[in-house]
Amino acid sequence: MKDRTMYFHEPVLLDEVINVIDPKQGENLIDGTLGGGGHAEAILKKTSPGGKMLGIDLDDEALIESKRRLEKYVDRVILEKGNFVNFLEFTEKHNFHPINIFFLDLGISSQQLDSDSMGLSFLKNNLLDMRIGGGGSYDDERITAEQIINNWSADEIIKILKDYGEERYAKLIVRTIISTRAEKKIENTEQLVDIISSSVPERYKNQKIHYATKTFQALRIAVNQELESLQIVLPKAFELLQSGGRIGIISFHSLEDRIVKRFFQKEAKDCLCEVGTPTCVCNHKKSLEILTKKPITASSEELQKNPRSRSAKLRVAKKI
Ligand SMILES: C[S@@+](CC[C@H](N)C(=O)[O-])C[C@H]1O[C@@H](n2cnc3c(N)ncnc32)[C@H](O)[C@@H]1O
Repeated sequence: MKDRTMYFHEPVLLDEVINVIDPKQGENLIDGTLGGGGHAEAILKKTSPGGKMLGIDLDDEALIESKRRLEKYVDRVILEKGNFVNFLEFTEKHNFHPINIFFLDLGISSQQLDSDSMGLSFLKNNLLDMRIGGGGSYDDERITAEQIINNWSADEIIKILKDYGEERYAKLIVRTIISTRAEKKIENTEQLVDIISSSVPERYKNQKIHYATKTFQALRIAVNQELESLQIVLPKAFELLQSGGRIGIISFHSLEDRIVKRFFQKEAKDCLCEVGTPTCVCNHKKSLEILTKKPITASSEELQKNPRSRSAKLRVAKKI
């Protein structure tokens, strides 16, 4: 029988994370997307006996699971519910310094995809919520997918489907959304899947990737402000890292990967002046060394074991 932790979520690129980040005895870690704690556990093993960890997640279930998994490290672990964007609140609250490793494994876990409360899956019928971790007690300013679908203008919805989902049939899908919602509120995932199904050409429905994938991805990214969060957290995390500290990010789609890649490239350069500027006027100084010239992707062995690893990309940089 499968161990429950494995069921919860199998960490992707685990060996690669450990090899490149190379955690050392006594180093402190912030894991901003703690999930089931799989990556955290492997890093804590390496930083034993003294290295501490601040683990953050939006989702209560994830925190319960990781608490169970990390039981034997209880004296070295602080768990907080929240958004990784606000990690500074927690470092201050717990006087958590220095920070040697900052790690994010973005997106959602397999269990969250299956969860009935979040409505993230197009294979199950649930309310169109899509807030990772749900609303609840968390001081939550996120809107739900249902609010986007029913209240936003056609142009605004088309924009997110195109920008965040690269959905080529965005206009057709949104046209049906607008005509459907004029009759009746669109409240659940099944209604949305039916709308997509009746909008896109038949051939689009016979492809490897489910025809609702891109719309659902786009809505999830918009609801959780995933790209904005990443853009905000990278410079903050980098500023707080100790010299020699490493920042490791696993992303699952090209939009996130591009943000990480550009941030690393920018901070790995001494001058950001336009090409052809005779002397540097920006005075920008290189502050990191990129440890993954190309993003690391899953081995064929992992691809076979864990389909979720298919689109995972790991990039790591070291603060100078
Ligand atoms: C892919 S899972 C992480 C799995 C984890 N590395 C492991 O080994 O089990 C991503 C986790 O990040 C959390 N998450 C996503 N966005 C977040 C955010 N902005 N702030 C905090 N947690 C977030 C999700 O709730 C989910 O539990």
